[in-house]
Amino acid sequence: MPFPAPSAALLGDLAGRLGPQGFTVDPADLAPWLTDWRRRVTGAAAALVSPASAEEAAFVVARAAAEGVAIVPQGGNSSMVGGATPAGPAEGRALLVSMRRMRAIRSVSPADNAVVAEAGVVLADLHEAVEAEGRRFPLSLAAKGNATVGGLVSTNAGGTQVLRFGPMRSLVLGLEAVLPDGSLLHGLAPLRKDNRGYDLKQLLIGGEGTLGLVTAATLRLVPAFETRSVGWIGLRSAEDALTLLRRLEDRLGEAVESFELVPAEGLALVLRHIPDTRAPLAESWTWNVLVEAVGSGDIGERLQNELMDAIEQGLAGDATIAASEAQADALWKLRESLSEAEARDGMAAKHDIAVPVADMPGFMTRASTAVTARFPGVRPIAFGHLGDGNVHFNVRAPEGGDDKAWFKAQAAAVSRFVHGLVTESGGTMSAEHGIGRFKRADFAALADPVRLAAMRAIKAALDPAGIMNPGALLPLAEDAPGQ
Ligand code: MLT
Ligand code: ZN
Repeated sequence: MPFPAPSAALLGDLAGRLGPQGFTVDPADLAPWLTDWRRRVTGAAAALVSPASAEEAAFVVARAAAEGVAIVPQGGNSSMVGGATPAGPAEGRALLVSMRRMRAIRSVSPADNAVVAEAGVVLADLHEAVEAEGRRFPLSLAAKGNATVGGLVSTNAGGTQVLRFGPMRSLVLGLEAVLPDGSLLHGLAPLRKDNRGYDLKQLLIGGEGTLGLVTAATLRLVPAFETRSVGWIGLRSAEDALTLLRRLEDRLGEAVESFELVPAEGLALVLRHIPDTRAPLAESWTWNVLVEAVGSGDIGERLQNELMDAIEQGLAGDATIAASEAQADALWKLRESLSEAEARDGMAAKHDIAVPVADMPGFMTRASTAVTARFPGVRPIAFGHLGDGNVHFNVRAPEGGDDKAWFKAQAAAVSRFVHGLVTESGGTMSAEHGIGRFKRADFAALADPVRLAAMRAIKAALDPAGIMNPGALLPLAEDAPGQ
């Protein structure tokens, strides 16, 4: 699809309306935002445009739409799948629209249990702002210091608390967004029920910026908890981990908010590469689980009793419970640094897959056997959100070789193979990271054609010129099925 470069008149209008804070074509200003989070691709943009209000954002989109100029929206630039990098069909000719200047928390309403936050608010800042009002926003992930509200909405982000509260899709009460023609959709009312037909906000959530530019969101809040208890458990099998989860849920109910799986080799990577970390248990266990339970004062004691029971009955091997907030943070650091530790160790083909929860232990075994048989020497590693049926089933380069050369030559074939296995198991090749640019070709090849046709029809209806985030999510002509 040919996209024109923005005209001098368009660039002049944007510079005039947004001022020097909101508009630049200086390569030095653009450079930090052109490479994706995983440092896999570097794109190019005609200008970096940073609106400071919804009206300015609408002006930018309307003016771009009038010329058919492409827009790549960007928040914290922490996409794992190249979703916000201006690489692909409009490379060098797109406007990179950064939402980072829109960082106001417009309101926090404890009575509505809702917060209205602009697209550029960083997740960690959102957490802090609502805590000050005695509430919490129950979604967290390792990139919380970078990820922004607009990106979290647009990617339907998940993370480590989905078990109880669901992903962004279940936490967004309302949206304000600029549609691809530049019109501003006002929908921030904190309604719990709204039955006026199509739920447009749900199209924008997870739409990866292909149907519009989110400028603000009304997000659901939940009561603050009195205390949390964080435990680390050593286990012999992933089946045991799942049995333990269901048992803890039966006995502690909704108090169990996180249940994160870490394999022995994942913990070893963290201990090797991340400073100030130490093994939480005396022995190394094939699998580890980080569990967080929240509630009133006795939750720590209740969790401890359950874990002691599990050890006595042979379901768990060993366990420890953090005795302080500092220890709890140290346990979380072991889990949240895993991705970084893996990256420091070398290249891996990364996958973000889900299958029905009960099948996940079996899937991990089947997939590890199959991938090592097909690609001898590779090292599969699975970690993450077992309770959601979502793990990061990554495949590391063979030990000792040139991992960069391996990645270049093999990673795409490995990923197609793994995504094929997931699809055969009735699962999804993207559980929480989205499709972005990196998974687009596999999505095109493996998705149900009926699903793809319906998605294309929605895209054509709302963005007929295809200017919003071209190259992300939706297949391009070059992504021929079966490739
Ligand atoms: C995680 O669960 O740690 C994140 O989704 C990041 C990753 O997959 O590497
Ligand atoms: Zn994850």
